[in-house]
Amino acid sequence: MSSKWRGTQAAKGTVCKTVIRRFESAPRLIPGQFVTIRCGTGTEPLLRRPFAVHRVNREEKSFEILYEIKGEGTRFLSQYEEADDLDILGPLGNGFKIDLNIKNAILVAGGIGIAPLTFLAEELVKEKINVTLILGSKTKLDIPLSAIGYKLLICTEDGSEGTKGLATDLLNEFVRAQNFAPLQIYACGPKAMLKAVAQITNCQVSLEEIMACGVGACLGCAVKTKDGYKMVCKDGPVFNSEDIIW
Ligand code: FES
Repeated sequence: MSSKWRGTQAAKGTVCKTVIRRFESAPRLIPGQFVTIRCGTGTEPLLRRPFAVHRVNREEKSFEILYEIKGEGTRFLSQYEEADDLDILGPLGNGFKIDLNIKNAILVAGGIGIAPLTFLAEELVKEKINVTLILGSKTKLDIPLSAIGYKLLICTEDGSEGTKGLATDLLNEFVRAQNFAPLQIYACGPKAMLKAVAQITNCQVSLEEIMACGVGACLGCAVKTKDGYKMVCKDGPVFNSEDIIW
């Protein structure tokens, strides 16, 4: 057992990272997939919490999750810097699809929505695809970031970091500058941002919904699509933006 404790209780809103070690399924994780974790030692909280996979080390059979402390469950987890003895279910859900024929990709993240897009960016770079990741937020975020092999552009609504404005403003500029050259576009973040991205261009979106079971049994994460209701946990979380009824 090699779980490492941070030993301190971080405040609500703090962004934390936990490395999950000795996870046998790590080598087959796909960007956009998630796991659910029992975030406590007793019966509370009762429900597992879903976490997008942030980065993977296939050789070491480990992966990272990046999350914001919102309540009891995430606070429990934030005390682990590394863990190998948590009750984890996964990989779950369907991840992003990568088109190896399209050599330019733009990824649009809203706040903590950067978690799965970092993993995606690293996989795209391995496939020799040029990646620009746009991270938008209301104000400067305290997120540990390292963009290796791709371009990271930051924008904030209040101008406290990077360009002042919305991530969708930057996306608009990129799409226009490409002048209809083929682009792969991916987005993850708050629903309002995803809707705005979808209005600019067709893309793959990773939806965030409150989940209870995480495996398609409780119907708690249903979203309306052109093909009826779909479960974010089982049919997604990645969807084609044109299929969603926003
Ligand atoms: Fe239960 Fe998706 S969380 S069906």
